[in-house]
Amino acid sequence: MSILRSRIVGIGSYLPDHIMTNEELAKNINTTDAWIVERTGIRERRIAAPSELTSDLATAAAKQALISAKLTEKDIELIILATSTPDNTFPSTATRVQAKLGMTKGVAFDLQAVCSGFIFALSVADNFIKSGQIKTALVIGAESFSRILDWNDRSTCVLFGDGAGAVILKAEYGSGNIQDNGILSTNIHSDGRYYNLLRVDGGPSSTQTVGYIRMEGRRVFRYATINLVKVAYEILKINNLTIADLDWIIPHQANKRIIEETARKLRIPLDKMIMTIDRYANTSAASVPITFTEAINDGRIKIGQLILLEAMGGGFTWGATLIRL
Ligand code: UT7
Repeated sequence: MSILRSRIVGIGSYLPDHIMTNEELAKNINTTDAWIVERTGIRERRIAAPSELTSDLATAAAKQALISAKLTEKDIELIILATSTPDNTFPSTATRVQAKLGMTKGVAFDLQAVCSGFIFALSVADNFIKSGQIKTALVIGAESFSRILDWNDRSTCVLFGDGAGAVILKAEYGSGNIQDNGILSTNIHSDGRYYNLLRVDGGPSSTQTVGYIRMEGRRVFRYATINLVKVAYEILKINNLTIADLDWIIPHQANKRIIEETARKLRIPLDKMIMTIDRYANTSAASVPITFTEAINDGRIKIGQLILLEAMGGGFTWGATLIRL
């Protein structure tokens, strides 16, 4: 049987130039490099310049992805931008990216699922492609979390950074089995009972302010490992695969200890979990595509390999995508 699949044909990322080290943070708040490295694995993060907006980070990553796909903006029919730090409350930042890329056709919209945003956006774009509605999609995760950090709250401000990552999906016919190249399966979830555990304490309809990140870190940590392990097993089972079939896992980069704990529970060697958290910290919806791009560009991930992308974030939201490159 011949069925439509979303093939990954381009990848790209963008990280702002400015590096903020743990030592710099320790000059202003009561923390140490040793605490941050031991409890999170983070050594430094990138911070967007005052003039750099989420749309700029997203556009830079998208341009890289277009180059790597050998396509132009004219080929793109759909942009989905996963972000929780839009340039403005409205219009969507995706429409700004559309204009910055020089696109005058197609459709662009934002998707908000916090740190799971890129996985959710991939799932939506994949369904557009599988239904035959569009042929080429640009999926971006871009964030400027530095703008919503309370720099006096040491329990959150040390954890996040800015950046963007993007992929281009193209419709291709496959045989419908797990040897096909492209997105094989997506699996997304949410549970709003946990709304308050990880949130921003402002918003247009509640406080008419932008607000700052607030998190009950220990509880989020616990649910993160539970959900990430569960969703990995779920998606493998749906596809009649086991952990041993996976070449790589690209987890959301929230905390090195969450990634280690997930690897231990899944009984997968830690060196199959790709990490960039030491250099970029948690870039929310951008962390998975940034890490994916890095591992493809440095030659670790190769064509034909089986990769599991997974993330968990505020809402709670969580999900996984199974891809054969
Ligand atoms: O991306 C979305 C998903 N996000 C996550 O998954 C994040 C999940 N949570 C975490 O990664 C961890 O819970 C944190 C990194 C946020 C915190 O690590 P922890 O090991 O859970 O620490 P804790 O919150 O239990 O705090 C332990 C101690 C506390 O001091 P006391 O009460 O024991 O005296 C904190 O006040 O560490 C203190 N602390 C710090 N000390 C130095 C908290 N932040 C800092 C800090 N520097 N930056």
